[in-house]
Amino acid sequence: MRLSSAFAALCGLQATLTVAEDTTWPWQTYKSSPYEPPSLKISKFGPTSPGYLFFDQSWDAHQYSVFIMSDKNELVWQSPRGDLKGFRVQKLDGKPVLTYFNGLGVPEPFGWGYGIIQVLDESYQSIYNVSVTNDNYKALGSIDSSSFVSWIDMHENTMTPDGTMLVTGYNVTRADLSSVGGPKDGWIADSLFYEIDVKTNEILFRWSALDHIDQIPLKHVQPFYPIKDWGRNSSYPYGYFHINSVDKFQDGTYIISSRYYCSLFKIAKDGSVDWTLQGQTGGDFNLNGIKFSYQHDARIHDETDDGFMLSIFDNANSDVQNGTHHTEGILMNVNLVTRGVSLVQTLHDPRDEIFSTSQGNTQLLPGNHAVMGYGSNPKIKEYNSNGTCVMTAQFGLDAVVASYRAYRSPWVGVPKTLPDVFSCIEQGRNKTDVYMSWNGATEHKMWKVFGGANASDLSPVAAVRKTGFETVASIRGNLRYVQVEAHGLGIEKGVSNVVPVKGQC
Ligand SMILES: *[C@@H]1O[C@H](CO)[C@@H](O)[C@H](O)[C@H]1NC(C)=O
Ligand SMILES: *[C@@H]1O[C@H](CO)[C@@H](O)[C@H](O)[C@H]1NC(C)=O
Ligand SMILES: *[C@@H]1O[C@H](CO)[C@@H](O)[C@H](O)[C@H]1NC(C)=O
Ligand SMILES: *[C@@H]1O[C@H](CO)[C@@H](O)[C@H](O)[C@H]1NC(C)=O
Ligand SMILES: *[C@@H]1O[C@H](CO)[C@@H](O)[C@H](O)[C@H]1NC(C)=O
Ligand SMILES: *[C@@H]1O[C@H](CO)[C@@H](O)[C@H](O)[C@H]1NC(C)=O
Ligand SMILES: *[C@@H]1O[C@H](CO)[C@@H](O)[C@H](O)[C@H]1NC(C)=O
Repeated sequence: MRLSSAFAALCGLQATLTVAEDTTWPWQTYKSSPYEPPSLKISKFGPTSPGYLFFDQSWDAHQYSVFIMSDKNELVWQSPRGDLKGFRVQKLDGKPVLTYFNGLGVPEPFGWGYGIIQVLDESYQSIYNVSVTNDNYKALGSIDSSSFVSWIDMHENTMTPDGTMLVTGYNVTRADLSSVGGPKDGWIADSLFYEIDVKTNEILFRWSALDHIDQIPLKHVQPFYPIKDWGRNSSYPYGYFHINSVDKFQDGTYIISSRYYCSLFKIAKDGSVDWTLQGQTGGDFNLNGIKFSYQHDARIHDETDDGFMLSIFDNANSDVQNGTHHTEGILMNVNLVTRGVSLVQTLHDPRDEIFSTSQGNTQLLPGNHAVMGYGSNPKIKEYNSNGTCVMTAQFGLDAVVASYRAYRSPWVGVPKTLPDVFSCIEQGRNKTDVYMSWNGATEHKMWKVFGGANASDLSPVAAVRKTGFETVASIRGNLRYVQVEAHGLGIEKGVSNVVPVKGQC
C-alpha cells in the first residue's frame, strides 16, 4: 500500500500513517531503543567524503522517518515517525541546523504536500517551524484541510545566508484552460514560492506562477502532460507548473524549476521572468547538445559577473523518455553574456544505471565530489571529482521505497535526551548483558557500565568501546540494577537512568 492510506486519512501534521509493513527489505532492530532503520547495502569503489548520510524514506518503507546513518550501516539518529522529507544540514546564524518537511505528502498523480519545515539544533531540539499559515489557500477538493496548520509544500527548504528560507506552495484555484483544450472555468494547481524569515515567519517575497501566465503560458507545458480530463473539478486540478526547487542569486533574484515545462526560470525581484532555460529547446539559451527534462534540484554555484555553474538532477527517464535515458546529475556552465550553456560534467554510474521516475537531488561536496539521491529508486551514490561512482548505498527495492532527497554532511550531535539502556540476565551462564545506545549522539567513543544489587548503590562493572549505534557489554555475575555513562570529547552529560535488570534475556 502506497501513501494512499495517509492520503485518505486526511490528516494534519501528526499524520497517523497506516503503511503496510514492508518485508521486502531488511531493517535493523535494537534492544535498548525502538528505532528500526533500514539496513543499508553499501558498496564502495574508492575514497568517499567525510560525513554521514541524511535521507528520508517513504512509499512502502518500513518506517516513515528521517535518518542519519554512517557509511558503515550504523544508525546515528532516527527522528520521530512521520511523513518527513528533504532532510539535511544547513546553517542558521553560522551554526549547523537540521531541516526537514513535516506534513502530508499527496502521492502521484499529484505529487505535492502540505506542512511545515522543522528546524532542529545540534541537540535535536525543535527551535523553529517555518510555516505559511495566513495566506488564503485551497487544498485538493478531495482533502479535508481543516486540521492543516501550514501550507508549505515538501519540495523545498533551502536556507539562505540571510536567515531566510526558500519554500514552495501549491494552491488549487480557478483558471481558464481553454488554450490547452480544457474548460474555460477550469481548476489548476498553482505553484507558489516564498522567501520567509525563519525566526518570525514573515513572508519577504511571494511569487505565483499563475500571476505570470502571460510570460509562462499554459500552452508551453510539455506534451507529456496533456490536459485529458484534468481541470474539471478541484479534486483533479491541472498541476501544470509543478515547481520543485528554488535557489537564490547573490543579487536577490531567484532560479526555479518546473517539472512540466522542463524549464528553469529566472525570477526578477518584481516577479517577472528574466529568462528561461528550457531543457529540450534551450528557451533563451543555446544548449550546445545538453538535454534535460523532469529535472529537480537546480542549484547555483560559483557566480561571476558573466554567469554561474548550475547543477541539476535530471531524471529524464520519466514520461518524457521512458526507460531509454538514464538519470544523471548534470553540471553546466551558464554564460549569461553569450546565452550559451556548456557541459562541465555528467554524473551517472555505468555499472548501475538508474531510471528514476520522480524526486531526487544532486549535492556538490567539497573536493568536487557529489552525492545523488535517486528519488523513486532508493539509492544514494557518491561520485569523485572525475565523475566515477565511489559509493552506492541502497535502502529498498526500486520503485517500492522512495526518498525525496539524500545528502552527505559532517555533523556533531549532542542530544539533550539521556542514553538508553536495556539489561537482562543470561540464565544458566551467570552473565548480565547490557545494551546501550544514545540516539543522535556522535561524540562518545566509550561506555562505562555501573551495576549492583541495590539501585542506590552501584559500582563500576565494565568499560567498553562503542561498537556502533548499540553497544553490548556482557558482565559476569547477576546484576539487579544497571546504569551506563557515555564518554567522549566534550560530553558533559551522558548518563542513563538506573534500570532494573530483566531476569531473563
Ligand atoms: C514545531 O512543530 C512540531 C510539530 O507540531 C512541534 O512538535 C514543535 O514543538 C514545534 N516547534 C516549535 C519551535 O514551535
Ligand atoms: C488560492 O486559491 C483561491 C481560490 O481557490 C484564491 O482565493 C486564493 O487567493 C489563492 N491563494 C493564494 C495564496 O494564491
Ligand atoms: C473530478 O474530475 C475527475 C476527472 O474528470 C473525475 O474522475 C472525478 O470523478 C471528478 N470528481 C468529482 C468530485 O467530481
Ligand atoms: C513508462 O514507464 C512506466 C513506469 O515504468 C510504465 O508504466 C509505462 O508503461 C512506460 N511507458 C512506455 C511508453 O514505455
Ligand atoms: C577516476 O577515479 C577512479 C577512482 O579513484 C580511478 O580509478 C580512475 O582511474 C580515475 N579516472 C580518471 C580518468 O582519472
Ligand atoms: C542500598 O544502599 C543504600 C546506600 O548505601 C543503603 O542506605 C540502603 O540501605 C541499601 N538498601 C538495601 C535494600 O540494601
Ligand atoms: C557468578 O559470577 C560472580 C561474579 O564473578 C561470582 O562471584 C559467582 O560466584 C558466580 N556464580 C556462579 C554460580 O558461578
